[in-house]
Amino acid sequence: MKVLVVGTGAREHAICDALAKDVELYAYMSKNNPGIAKLAVEYKKGDEGDIEAVAEYAKEKEIELAVIGPESPLGKGIVNALEEVGVPCVGPTKESARIETDKSFMRNLFADYNIDGSLTYKVFDNYEDISEFLDNYEKDVVVKPVGLTGGKGVKIVGEHLKDNQDAKEYAKEVMDNAMGGFTQVIIEEKVVGEEFTIQAFCDGEHLAPMPTAQDHPHAFEGDQGLITGGMGSYSNTDGLLPFMTQEDYNAAVAIMKETLKAIAKETTPYKGILYGQFMLSKEGPKLIEYNARFGDPEAMNVLPLLKTPMIDVCKAIVNGTLDKVEFEDKASVCKYIVPDGYPDTPHAGEIIEVDEECIEDIGAKVFYAAVSAEEEGITLSGSRALGIVAQGKTISEAEKIAEEACGCIKGNVYHRRDVGTEELVQKRIKHMEDILNS
Ligand code: GLY
Repeated sequence: MKVLVVGTGAREHAICDALAKDVELYAYMSKNNPGIAKLAVEYKKGDEGDIEAVAEYAKEKEIELAVIGPESPLGKGIVNALEEVGVPCVGPTKESARIETDKSFMRNLFADYNIDGSLTYKVFDNYEDISEFLDNYEKDVVVKPVGLTGGKGVKIVGEHLKDNQDAKEYAKEVMDNAMGGFTQVIIEEKVVGEEFTIQAFCDGEHLAPMPTAQDHPHAFEGDQGLITGGMGSYSNTDGLLPFMTQEDYNAAVAIMKETLKAIAKETTPYKGILYGQFMLSKEGPKLIEYNARFGDPEAMNVLPLLKTPMIDVCKAIVNGTLDKVEFEDKASVCKYIVPDGYPDTPHAGEIIEVDEECIEDIGAKVFYAAVSAEEEGITLSGSRALGIVAQGKTISEAEKIAEEACGCIKGNVYHRRDVGTEELVQKRIKHMEDILNS
């Protein structure tokens, strides 16, 4: 079967890796990802956001199914364009992708359909209303652009903003600059807890959840520094995380199932990956945001654990026959290698050495992200460069393997050594206990 994967990063490399042995793999990517290039029978280098060009390529190659990696082409309607030329897709239509691309649509859906796990929120389009709201709101808030900002537009009081007065100014900036493409801003109640991610395969009607993962957005060890796309993540043997219960997981999955039903009523049946980012609060899981795609790095935790062949899952998604999807009962840790200076002033254009044999011998895997294979070697593009992933009987065991494998990379790069360590996991457990006992 001819399958096209759209996207350039480590997430897409992990998708290709899960599919490659069972399909004739084609790829459409903006840079020369060496991992994807090795797995694909053919790839085209081009702008993934040029949805007409992708559809033309798919038609020319007689592609039978496409998997869309990143959110931006989904927001532009790549699935609509591919379906128009007869290619079924793992990915939502432009209308259903609004669950990620339009946060006011998402929050209103929760309100209109009475879905659990939402927060106090308000959407604003003028400064007077923002000012009045914040002068009278007693809890700390989070300010979010309504549209896509590559995960970088969200600011939280107590982290990036001093107080709700500071939040006013930032909300104005978001609105005045139409950050994310909307002249609106969304202000939400700040929820305290531990964050977790559940990704689910969806066929429009049925939803098959994956093991939970936890990402580490801060750039530096000890959760310091700016928020990034994610510096690493872990998952555990039982599909839960050490600070959560089966009931927490079930409650989060129930929220996602309700969302799936609501999307089908409001737009088109949602076929693809639904990524739920939750905060486990004292009152249970609260939905922070949805993405219309796999998480990056979380895809690298779960995809290598698939027992059900990925191609069977993809076919079931497009045919509407999705059932249980099985995963190996192992823990996993992913650590992102990033350029020195990232995220502020990242080194770009420099060569790094990736000793794949060394990584494999240690028992880990590498997924290539923001690098390009050039004649001179693997070249840093300035963003997260490589995901190093290992599995084990415990999180600690996986962490040690991943950490050792990070030593197989040479160049001006760094990574968070603390992701998945016993010390950090215990800190998360203690934090959750403190919240539950407060
Ligand atoms: N891990 C964050 C994201 O995928 O958006």
